Amino acid sequence: MSEENIDNTSIIWKQIADMWNNYFAPPSRISNEEIKNYRNWLEKANENKESKKALVLGATPEIRDILKECNYEVTIIDINTEMILAMTSLLKTKNPDEIFVKANWLDNPLADNYFDVVVGDAILPNIPLKDRTRLLLKINRLLKSDGIFITRAFYIPDKKPFRSVEEILEHFSKKEPNIQSALEMVLELHILTYDSDDHLGSFAKSKEALEDYHKRKGYEFENKNLQKIHDIVWNFWCVKFVDKVFVYEYRENEEKEYKQYFEINDIFEAKDHDYSKITPMYSLEKIQ
Ligand SMILES: C[S@@+](CC[C@H](N)C(=O)[O-])C[C@H]1O[C@@H](n2cnc3c(N)ncnc32)[C@H](O)[C@@H]1O
Repeated sequence: MSEENIDNTSIIWKQIADMWNNYFAPPSRISNEEIKNYRNWLEKANENKESKKALVLGATPEIRDILKECNYEVTIIDINTEMILAMTSLLKTKNPDEIFVKANWLDNPLADNYFDVVVGDAILPNIPLKDRTRLLLKINRLLKSDGIFITRAFYIPDKKPFRSVEEILEHFSKKEPNIQSALEMVLELHILTYDSDDHLGSFAKSKEALEDYHKRKGYEFENKNLQKIHDIVWNFWCVKFVDKVFVYEYRENEEKEYKQYFEINDIFEAKDHDYSKITPMYSLEKIQ
């Protein structure tokens, strides 16, 4: 069974770096409306400033493109060289001035009080629960006194929308088969198998739930669209990502954690995908 530790939350990315662009869709990748909102907030954070220093937690290409267009000096920090390389190949325009730091966000060589903005996407689900407060404190310290932390959260909903694998399959039998619907199905399996004691959205647990269904009802579906969605989940997500866990919190708890080190300036929920209630964006201002 997968566990909550830094290897299982962070290192697994390197195995899928080259597949990220083919299999990641909203809500696990930022949507068009969210891209626009990152741009709005980053332009605003840049007004009236001489030095414009940005740190990206991770290597998300959409965020780096915006930072370049807004003339920030960009540093990116990611634990996996494979992800840095794969994400760099997806940039709209290469930025020869970007500084790469290969390090763990929790244990990094960066200077305190240096950055005007720290930007990330779905950071905390990659961090063991016991280390989250430490990471938020580190981000606070990396920022200048008027610095802003811009991030997109990834929560677990307060109430599970489906009670069984059967209900999930019924829901997805009405969807078009594509990368997005497959990703949504695996997310629903995470939510179904989520246990608030361990806080884990685990591909291993999702796989077990599907295996249990297979034993009872088999692998074949009359609905061809459902078959295709199921097969992407079973053959990609339950294989390539099987050792990965995401650490999910409830919205109320995570907002309390933010408020220990930041004031919430603004919250944004996109309208171009169905999961924005559990993936809102935050503009957070450093508390001294
Ligand atoms: C920011 S997350 C979220 C994925 C996001 N939706 C995206 O667009 O890439 C994924 C990235 O964080 C990196 N990462 C995860 N945990 C890390 C850690 N503790 N320190 C540094 N990088 C980490 C992974 O290598 C990966 O490149």
